[in-house]
Amino acid sequence: MIQHATISDMRRWREEQRHAGRRVGFVPTMGHLHEGHLSLVDRSRDLADATVLSVFVNPTQFGPGEDFDRYPRDLERDRGLAERRGVDCLFVPSVSEMYPRAASVALDPGSLGAHLCGPLRPGHFAGVMLVVLKLLHIVEPDIAVFGRKDAQQAIILGRMVDDLNLEVQLDVAPTVRESDGLALSSRNAYLTPDERRAAAAIPRALDAGHRAYREGATEPETVVAAVRRELENEQLMRVEYIDAVDPETLAPARRVQDRTVLVLAARVGATRLIDNVVLGEGTASDVFLDG
Ligand code: PAJ
Repeated sequence: MIQHATISDMRRWREEQRHAGRRVGFVPTMGHLHEGHLSLVDRSRDLADATVLSVFVNPTQFGPGEDFDRYPRDLERDRGLAERRGVDCLFVPSVSEMYPRAASVALDPGSLGAHLCGPLRPGHFAGVMLVVLKLLHIVEPDIAVFGRKDAQQAIILGRMVDDLNLEVQLDVAPTVRESDGLALSSRNAYLTPDERRAAAAIPRALDAGHRAYREGATEPETVVAAVRRELENEQLMRVEYIDAVDPETLAPARRVQDRTVLVLAARVGATRLIDNVVLGEGTASDVFLDG
């Protein structure tokens, strides 16, 4: 595995792949790698001939008071995991390499940013779009792989690629979960043992919503209430939103049906966690790790 820290080295490597006729797959991350990230690497390796993984904790997507400074960083560990999983090129730019000065141009997710995490994290998706667009221009991948765990992010990026006619194919991979259902996230590292136990109520609650749908509920309120009920007794949990939304617009669904996305954000202690499930499909398509 080769490692590049500068944009010019990264571009040179990319040119070599082009000359060799290799299709390049790309997995952007903020590091502190876990099985969720590594499942995206597997997907990229299935779909392309060479895989780039970037590790960059992107300051422009963190708001004031968010966890940019304490976001978990361990490049040595990430290097080992990436190499063992078959990553060909690790791209680890510094903040000054990516942002030699504050960007003047800004991207706006438009109405897709008006729902869910958008209003709660002002500027977050603009920062994600900016860094991903820059990374796509630097790496010029044939395919880029994202996780469905961050459903709103994947939908916004898909729309950016369409609206801006970017020449990349996006692939959205299923959520990888612990054996008790908790979605893997770098932020799980912040949880105390008690909080970790409480966090398992999140996938349980989404399952309860899914069950309500399977048993015939068609009103979003009924499904959302089933989710909320499951979280009511969790003292350490503060729900930010529970919603049933349209998979294309992210607007509240008027009726729940197959492909409606049940989304949830909650704070467990000080840690903000998000998760979702696609109705009609359920967790059956997700990947569970053994206990
Ligand atoms: P990060 O949170 O590191 O996630 C990197 C990628 O891994 C994202 O596409 C995310 O959806 C995916 N992912 C995270 N947890 C997952 C899980 N349990 N199962 C499957 N995939 C999972 O998302 C970001 O970084 C950043 O916003 C980024 C896109 C890199 C831009 O800075």
